[in-house]
This record gives sequence, structure tokens and C-alpha cells, in this order.
Amino acid sequence: MAELGVNIDHIATLRQARLGIDPEPVYAAAIAEQNGADQITVHLREDRRHIQLRDVKLLRQTVQTRLNLEMAATEEMVSIAQTIKPDTVTLVPEKREELTTEGGLKLSEHYRSMIKNLKESGIEVSVFIEPDPKMIKLAIKYDVDAVEIHTGAYSNLKNSKEIEAELQRIEKAVKMISAANLRVVAGHGLNYHNIKKIVEIEGIEEYNIGHSIICRAVFSGLAEAVYSMKLLVE
Ligand code: PXP
Repeated sequence: MAELGVNIDHIATLRQARLGIDPEPVYAAAIAEQNGADQITVHLREDRRHIQLRDVKLLRQTVQTRLNLEMAATEEMVSIAQTIKPDTVTLVPEKREELTTEGGLKLSEHYRSMIKNLKESGIEVSVFIEPDPKMIKLAIKYDVDAVEIHTGAYSNLKNSKEIEAELQRIEKAVKMISAANLRVVAGHGLNYHNIKKIVEIEGIEEYNIGHSIICRAVFSGLAEAVYSMKLLVE
């Protein structure tokens, strides 16, 4: 059965809007876990726009499932990961000006020693790449434990033929990764509609989903939140 990793970055986005203490990502992680999340995912970005180092440290102590740290492949981040020891590190590309992770990693020799060092610290290493055979071959060569397929292109498509072609590209990628005995993960841009076709692909073991879940949570909680305040005002 496939597992669900819940990305709680946007709980922290909301908190950083006021630079206060609410909403607390640790609470969000606990609620996600109590409701079936198999993993909590956070992205500690270089610009610290949402998740802070303090969040990762606290989550390491409180997460009862698994903690997946998304991070750029920099010396600073490797050293943070080696200190905090998340269960998994997912290496992602990072650009300061982007709104969210755009495109997959362009793997090169630069990554090989980082992957090795992280693995030697007892951390599972995953790389976030496009469903591109060339990149998958490099991921296998660099001895990663898992590959997260970037589903952003699929999520952005509107044309049904193009969607079908992208799904086939993802399916081929899943087969290639599984054949190398690596864990197959998928994520980015997945929502309550486009997830349906992705889950039909056999072999994907885990999905990392954030934005759509936090958006749904805002609306599913809004009625109760207004009503509770109305009672106090009255
Ligand atoms: N997987 C990776 C590697 C990501 O970088 C992100 C976004 O931080 C996600 C999954 C989750 O994407 P979304 O928030 O669009 O569900």
C-alpha cells in the first residue's frame, strides 16, 4: 500500500506572515500523523521563508512516523542534516527567486560525495528529479536509496493527450527506478483531482503532498473557526 508524506511548509508560511508563534508546525505534524500521514516532510530553504531550523529540531523530537528533510545540496545543509539526522534527506534544486521548487535536480558529480556522506551518517537519501531516464541512471550510479519523481509537469498540464504522455513518462520512470531496487516516491503539485491517475501507476511507494492539503484544511476548518469566534463576540 502506498504511503503519504505530508509537507507542512505552508503552516510555517502562515506563521512567518506575522513572525509569531501561530500556527505551530509541530501541532500540524501531530494532527497529520494522527490522521494517517506516514511521514512528515519539511523543506528548510536557504532563505528560511517558511520552515526554520528550530522547526526541524523540534520535529526531530516530536515526529513519531518519519521525518523527511528536503534541502539544497550545500555544505551548510549537509552539516545541518548530519546534526539533526532526519530519517530521509531529499535533495532538491533551490533558487532564491522561485515560488516553489521548479524542475528536478540536474545530477552531476557534485552530488556523489554528498550522497555518500549523508548515507554514511545513517540517513536515507532521496533525489528529486524529472522522470528522465538520463537522470534516473545517474541517481542509480550515485547510489541513492530512493528517487522522488517530480510530478510538477504532470500537474500543470491541461491537455488530455499531453497528460497521457506525461503519465507514460512517469510510468516508465517508475519501472526503471523499481528495477534498480530503489524506493519510488512522487510529489509536487498533486491535488485531490490529479492524484487519481497517478495512483493508478503501479510501483509508487510514497507521495509527498503539501499545498493542496493545507488549502483544503483552510476551507474545511473555516466554518467552525468563524462560528467559535462568533460565540465569543456575542
Ligand atoms: N516533493 C518535493 C521534493 C517538494 O519540493 C515539494 C514542495 O516543497 C513537494 C513534494 C510538495 O509539493 P506540493 O506542496 O505542491 O504538494
